[in-house]
Amino acid sequence: MELFDVYSLFDVTPVKAAGCTIWDDKGTEYLDLYGGHAVISVGHCHPRYTAALMSQAGRIGFYSNSVHNPLQEKLAHLLGEACGYPHYRLFLDNSGAESNENALKMASFHTGKDRIVAFRKSFHGRTSGAVAATDNPAIVSPFNAVHKVTFCNLDDAAGVEAELAGGDVAGVIVEGIQGCGGINVPSDGFMRDLRNLCTKYGAVLILDEVQSGYGRTGHFFAHQWAGIEPDIITMGKGIANGFPCGGILLSPMFETVKGRLGTTFGGNYLAMAAAVSVLEIMQEEKLMENALKVGEILKGELPRKDCIEDIRGRGLMLGIEFNCDVAPIRKALLYDKHIFTGVAGNNMIRLLAPLCLTADEARTFIDALNGLL
Ligand SMILES: Cc1ncc(COP(=O)(O)O)c(C=O)c1O
Repeated sequence: MELFDVYSLFDVTPVKAAGCTIWDDKGTEYLDLYGGHAVISVGHCHPRYTAALMSQAGRIGFYSNSVHNPLQEKLAHLLGEACGYPHYRLFLDNSGAESNENALKMASFHTGKDRIVAFRKSFHGRTSGAVAATDNPAIVSPFNAVHKVTFCNLDDAAGVEAELAGGDVAGVIVEGIQGCGGINVPSDGFMRDLRNLCTKYGAVLILDEVQSGYGRTGHFFAHQWAGIEPDIITMGKGIANGFPCGGILLSPMFETVKGRLGTTFGGNYLAMAAAVSVLEIMQEEKLMENALKVGEILKGELPRKDCIEDIRGRGLMLGIEFNCDVAPIRKALLYDKHIFTGVAGNNMIRLLAPLCLTADEARTFIDALNGLL
C-alpha cells in the first residue's frame, strides 16, 4: 500500500533529536527553528518529558473517560495557575482543529445561534467547522462550505460590529497571532474592541491559541498582550511537546451538560503525563521568558537587507517577509546551512522554534541567513 500523497516532503529523514537539534539518518546535524510546526515547546526529547512518558506507559496507557483520571485534574490545576485562568474549566481533546470544532460548537450551543465571524487570512484547522472558518478556499470542500461563516478584516472593528449587529452571530473566532496567514499580529486595541463587541452583542469570543499560545509569544497566550479575557481559548500543538493533545478553556458562563462534548482519546494518560511534564519544565526552565528574550535577539539582530520587507511577530513566533519567493532561501537554509525553518505563503520565512532556543542558536541562524542573502 502507498501513502495518500498530500504532503510535499523535504529530502531529510530525522531519526534523533535533543533540545533544538535534529540528526538525520546520515548523521547530519540540523538546527530546528521550526519546532515541527510550533509543536516542540520544551525541546526535543527533554529527559524529564521522556521519563514521564516512559514511566506512564509502563503503568497504564489508556482507559476511557468513564473513570477518574487524576492526571487530568493535575493538568487542569497546573494549567489554570500557569496561564492565569484558574477560574476557567478545561475540556481535553486531541488536536487544534478538534479544539476549534468544540469551541465553535459550544458558542452555538450557548447562544442558540449558528453564524460565525472569522477573519481573512485565518487558519483554524481542517475539520468541518474549523475549516469552514479558515480563509483558504482550496481546502474547503462543498460539504464544509455550507457552514454560515462571514470573514472580516483583521483590525476592522467597524466591520465586525456591522456583522454582530444583525443579532444572529454565535461567536467570533480569531487567532492570537495569525500563523499560516503570515504572522499578522492583531492590534491590542482591536482585541479589546472584539472583547467589548462580543459582550455588547452576546456573541462568544473564541481565541485560537493553537499556534500562538503555550508561552510562544512571551505571555502564556498571545491575547494576554491586549489584557483581555476571551470566553473560550483553544489549544493544541505545544501542549504536550509532540504527543497528540488539545484542549479548550471555557469561562464560567458556560453551562455543563453531560455528554455534550466528548472524545475517546482526549485526556488519555500518556497525553496527560506529557502535558504535565511540559508545564513543569516550562516553569522550571522559565521558557516563556526565554522565548521573549531570544525572540527579541532575533528581531533585533536579523539582517536588514533590501530584500527583507518586514520582520514581525512576538517572542518565538516570528515572520521574515521578503520581496521575493522564499522557497530557494528555505531550501538553502535546510540543505546548505542545515537549519529547519517554516514558511507562510510564498514570501515569508516563519520561525517557530522550540521555546528553549538559546541566544547562540539564534545567532547561528542569523549568521546563516546573512551568509545567504
Ligand atoms: C492557529 C491554528 N489553529 C488550528 C490549527 C489546527 O491544528 P491541528 O493541525 O492540530 O488540527 C493550526 C495548525 O496549524 C493552527 O495554526
